[in-house]
Amino acid sequence: MPTSEDAQGQATPWWRSAVIYQVYPRSFADGNGDGTGDVAGLRSRLGHLAGLGVDALWLSPWYVSPLADGGYDVADYRDIDPAFGTLDEAEALIREAHGLGLRVIVDLVPNHCSDQHPWFQAALTAGPGAPERELFHFRAGRGADGELPPNDWPSHFGGPAWSRTADGSWYLHMFAPEQPDWNWEHPEVRAEFLSILRFWLDLGVDGFRIDVTDHLIKEDGLPDTAGHHHDPHPWRDQEGVHEIYRSWRKLLDSYPGERAFVAELWEQDPERFARYLRQDELHTAFNFPLLRSPWDAGSFREVIDATLHAHALVDAPATWVLSNHDTTRHVTRYGRTDTSYDFDRATRHGLPVDLALGTRRARAAALLMLALPGSAYVYQGDELGLWEVEDIPDGLRQDPTWLRSGGVDRGRDGCRVPLPWEGEEQPFGFSPTRASAAPWLDVQPDGWRELSVAAQSGDPASHLELYREALRLRRALPGLGDGPLEWRPSAPKVLEFARTDGFRCVANLGAEPVTLPQDAEVLLASVDLTDGLLPPDAAAWLREA
Ligand code: NOJ
Repeated sequence: MPTSEDAQGQATPWWRSAVIYQVYPRSFADGNGDGTGDVAGLRSRLGHLAGLGVDALWLSPWYVSPLADGGYDVADYRDIDPAFGTLDEAEALIREAHGLGLRVIVDLVPNHCSDQHPWFQAALTAGPGAPERELFHFRAGRGADGELPPNDWPSHFGGPAWSRTADGSWYLHMFAPEQPDWNWEHPEVRAEFLSILRFWLDLGVDGFRIDVTDHLIKEDGLPDTAGHHHDPHPWRDQEGVHEIYRSWRKLLDSYPGERAFVAELWEQDPERFARYLRQDELHTAFNFPLLRSPWDAGSFREVIDATLHAHALVDAPATWVLSNHDTTRHVTRYGRTDTSYDFDRATRHGLPVDLALGTRRARAAALLMLALPGSAYVYQGDELGLWEVEDIPDGLRQDPTWLRSGGVDRGRDGCRVPLPWEGEEQPFGFSPTRASAAPWLDVQPDGWRELSVAAQSGDPASHLELYREALRLRRALPGLGDGPLEWRPSAPKVLEFARTDGFRCVANLGAEPVTLPQDAEVLLASVDLTDGLLPPDAAAWLREA
């Protein structure tokens, strides 16, 4: 596996600089023709990822799951869902990826499981007061007959965070009712997850992405939020989570090789965020403020400075991400009049989108992001310039956020549409032959014909070739990845910074062309350049002469 080096030629851990590609297995590639992406499909397309030039893969959940929340409802943490393949195939994938120099990170979902998990089923059967119920948060209801939920917590997917069982008790689920929250105060839950971590480490994985990292511990007594004025919320960022991650870190460090954690953390306070990245806790965390930021130079600069400052407090590398399986694809976001993002998807859904503008900005954003210090994430399809599919017929939408919000939230299906690989007709090579079943989410736009991997390959003007070249340069240039950043004076609405070894990045988020520095050679640009000018909504990488 390639090691990275810092500007002084010292070996640095790979995760400080890595570009990590997110695979959403259901929608990546279908190997067996049943319309659902699977491990066989992923194995057959590993060449694309190695050729793209990423360093690692992060796989969204592939475990046994009824897919009530796209696999984030796990019924067996130590096996692969038959829809995706077998454990042997998973092992073969890890081996083959390693053979191609790609590390593999798997998703770990510790806050909740599936209601079909045998321990939850046993808890239901055992009845009120049974020890099996202590592994979860079961409570009696309020009201004369216990007909009201035990507290006022809302589920992130709409409705109350409590559901009632047939015997009248209630259980907590911060997400869908099919996702009961584990009780992390219980030693058996802790022991079980240490054992699950060992299972996958023994199988050879290089790390874990941790789902809703800050939710595991709930405030004592599960107090109502009404009248609860202090932050954090009673269900997140409680002090007790840190000792869990310290114990996980010890376990990871006892394994050979450089294994790493990446935390999913939507924590907004940079200093509280940084606490998860202390030297004896997690290695990295997704840093979402860039993804939330509007297309605005001032806002980007603020986010970059705040991020670098927070990470420097604990000497952790920053991470950068523009899109993932939960958010509106950034080609679409950047083509709207309101280019910011938050989870209130309903307010932005259906705003007019200028896809040409969004695509142009997405190309510039890729160069900007890949030039920033630290590690970066590419969500499957980012490299193809895919947009959000917003016109999915209601009857085909599957995301629980859509169903549970009564259709107010349009859900996350639009960024999970199966990838286009090749060919003239849908599903554009997603499944092996035209005799295959239709894709599980059969809404690929016609326009994706021109965006397939095959259609873009070899066209130097394509989105895919821009990513390939940027990733090739990122590996070749010692100034990129981990290391310092220095802002350079620039025109308003322009971001210009230097890295070590004479590397410079200029991004023009304004409406007027700007003159590129005269003393530097252009290495790569997101658009064709003429007369030494960088047009609006474009970025360039330069090397000082
Ligand atoms: C975050 C995951 O990214 C998302 O897809 C999932 O719905 C929630 N966590 C609950 O597991």
